[in-house]
Amino acid sequence: MTALTTSIIRFDSLGSTNTEATKLAIAGVAEGTCVVAREQTAGRGRLEREWISPLDAGLYFSIVLRPQIEPKSFPLITLMASLAVRDALREACGLETDIKWPNDVLAEGKKLCGILAETVDTQSGRAVILGIGINLKKESLPTELATVAISIEGATGRVPDSENVLQALTGALGREYDHMQSPNGDLAMLAEWRRASSYANGKRVSVSNNGQIIDGVTDGLELDGALRVLTPDGKVVILRAGEVTAVRQVE
Ligand code: BTN
Repeated sequence: MTALTTSIIRFDSLGSTNTEATKLAIAGVAEGTCVVAREQTAGRGRLEREWISPLDAGLYFSIVLRPQIEPKSFPLITLMASLAVRDALREACGLETDIKWPNDVLAEGKKLCGILAETVDTQSGRAVILGIGINLKKESLPTELATVAISIEGATGRVPDSENVLQALTGALGREYDHMQSPNGDLAMLAEWRRASSYANGKRVSVSNNGQIIDGVTDGLELDGALRVLTPDGKVVILRAGEVTAVRQVE
């Protein structure tokens, strides 16, 4: 296995860095090609939600991956990415974060970063487009999101240098991705995720899953990254990211 080498293509404005990276993956670019935009006019999140992306207020980043793991394990890529974001924010900003399954990085219990992994079939096999949005400045957030979202500026009191965050992120992604794909790296990554996330075990949650509300206590992860929730009647419900619309902590 060769280490992930990253190269960065920069844009002033794009609809979505994930859409641009998808086009590049279909055109055959190498694994590790990154797309960064200063703003997005059609940034998107999981479940087709909007990702508001004002000019220079956030980091809007996508990377083309061509993973050598079984497709059923692709959800691990989102978990791996959340560890890389955690590492990068610690390195570049001295900021400690929490991870909320399946795709959020939190500071002070509020969302600081969202991760969107999408797959695309290309001539050289299935690629994963890993999109990461990090709120850098306070103006990245509309006022109506103030109770649920936060920026690095809001969490540290300092406007971060976006280039430092980007360099730390590409470095951390390279390390975490290579580690995940090394022998038994998936198990090591899952163990690391459990240590990094307050949501992994023993957290009381209310989850919207396929239109149903499931209340219970988190009970670790399955090997494919699905979340286990222990319900009051003693059953374990296995939740997969594609079916879950919301995970709420219950006080
Ligand atoms: C989520 O929280 O639901 C995921 C948000 C992902 C946002 C990033 S910003 C860069 C990349 N381009 C997009 O359109 N979305 C991702």
